[in-house]
Amino acid sequence: MKLVVLGANGRTGRLVLEAALKKEMDVTAVVRSADKTPGTEHEKLQVAVGDPCDSAFLASVFRGHDAAISTLGGRLPTKAATSVYARSADAIVRAASSTDIKRILVTSTALLFPDQTFLGKVLRVVVPNVVRSAGRMEDILKHSGLDWTSARAGFLQDSDLAAYRAQRNALPENGSAVSRAGLANFLIDALMDPETKGAAYGVSQPDQ
Ligand SMILES: NC(=O)c1ccc[n+]([C@@H]2O[C@H](COP(=O)([O-])OP(=O)(O)OC[C@H]3O[C@@H](n4cnc5c(N)ncnc54)[C@H](OP(=O)(O)O)[C@@H]3O)[C@@H](O)[C@H]2O)c1
Repeated sequence: MKLVVLGANGRTGRLVLEAALKKEMDVTAVVRSADKTPGTEHEKLQVAVGDPCDSAFLASVFRGHDAAISTLGGRLPTKAATSVYARSADAIVRAASSTDIKRILVTSTALLFPDQTFLGKVLRVVVPNVVRSAGRMEDILKHSGLDWTSARAGFLQDSDLAAYRAQRNALPENGSAVSRAGLANFLIDALMDPETKGAAYGVSQPDQ
């Protein structure tokens, strides 16, 4: 498996790299500037520096790879920062159409599920740009003809807990949070599982 990881220097992106390398995949880590390294060195890891919203750049990276995982996401809930979801999805689809890549996995937000807790309903109002751009990202993928999977998460936590629960089209019960390690493991497991194609999954911490 030859895998491209977008957002590879981010907190979840780094864990995706580690999980992929553990499975002996060949990985190309995409970062937007040379000073933002993914922090891992490995003989099966190479780094490509460029804009993940530039389809021509992405096409040059995608060539010779089997799949891509995007952990891109705005670091602020502003319109400009969150637009990376939709803009990168557009670039991914354009780039994929000129290469052999068919399998795309992305991270997204559990705020897209129609059933929301009271807190979820409040957050949908507080961070509308996240909801709008993530929704647009998923729509672009849904209509792309690609084999896509979206991993929708609630709150991300930095813990060593690598386990997760995942459910198709819904957040698992009481699943408001998940560790970044758990989310990374879901992405790598889903990459290898054809059953997850063409759907959004809610990913959460294991049952307490
Ligand atoms: N934080 C949460 O509680 C939460 C909840 C639900 C879902 N999510 C989603 O889960 C995923 C992983 O989250 P995380 O907190 O682990 O990520 P993170 O550490 O914030 O990393 C985000 C990555 O996206 C890149 N990025 C952001 N804007 C970009 C742009 N305009 N151009 C190029 N690269 C850009 C960052 O690169 P730079 O370092 O260069 O900025 C970084 O590599 C994201 O999709 C996030 O939206 C997060």
